[in-house]
Amino acid sequence: MSDRWHTEVLRSEFERTSQTFGERTKGRFDGMGIVEFSRVGDRAKVLEVGVGTGNFLSLFDGPSRDLIGVDLTPAMILKALASFPAFGLVVADGAKLPLDSRSVDLASTAQTLHHIWEPLPVLREMRRVIAESGRVLVIDQIAPESFEQAIAMNELEMIRDPSHASSRPPSALRTLMRVAGLSIVDERIVGSRQRFSNWMPAIEFPPERIEKVKSFIDQHGAATGMNFERDGNDYTYDRERMMILAERA
Ligand SMILES: C[S@@+](CC[C@H](N)C(=O)[O-])C[C@H]1O[C@@H](n2cnc3c(N)ncnc32)[C@H](O)[C@@H]1O
Repeated sequence: MSDRWHTEVLRSEFERTSQTFGERTKGRFDGMGIVEFSRVGDRAKVLEVGVGTGNFLSLFDGPSRDLIGVDLTPAMILKALASFPAFGLVVADGAKLPLDSRSVDLASTAQTLHHIWEPLPVLREMRRVIAESGRVLVIDQIAPESFEQAIAMNELEMIRDPSHASSRPPSALRTLMRVAGLSIVDERIVGSRQRFSNWMPAIEFPPERIEKVKSFIDQHGAATGMNFERDGNDYTYDRERMMILAERA
């Protein structure tokens, strides 16, 4: 659930980045075997909460699939509509889905829960809209299990993007699923080495913010568990994402 203040911050961040986000993040789910992992059928109705510019939902594109995306930021929905006019795309909060109960086969969310302070109402809504045999798929970046490292990582993420709420460790994501009335069918953690200049490109972020994040990395980067390494004027770092597939408990 998003309060009004957080929704305003979120919308202003994603409105600014909407022009470049889709291109910058293209391919970031490649090689994760997401469609296969989700065990979704050829005729499935698939929902994504926090659809953004549509890159993730488009992984499920097929001749007989019905694809629906909701997002809180109108600018992101407009961008998604321009690229994927056949998808059913609407502005809505994941905590209040404009869908009938038990009406979709897969309710997914990717790289969005860490922008949500209270993810339980969203997960409960995703559970409400899945069919009897339907499933919930959650993909999100994760924090280390070490409390101190998770705090440092989230501090860095919030300087980079004030709409960031919390990257959670795997144990917290598992607990959230259970409390939302979901039972985990499968899970996987995927790690990759990333480049700072792709994460905070000058075309997308204000220069003073880039400098603040660099200065945080120089002073506290080692505390984040992200294994930052300097590479000239750039850095490389580790990013881990968790994939969880669940059904009604
Ligand atoms: C980092 S983007 C991810 C976009 C897309 N899932 C992808 O991975 O390419 C996060 C998106 O979630 C949306 N969002 C955040 N909180 C939301 C909420 N409570 N309900 C619906 N959308 C939300 C934001 O507006 C933003 O477009």
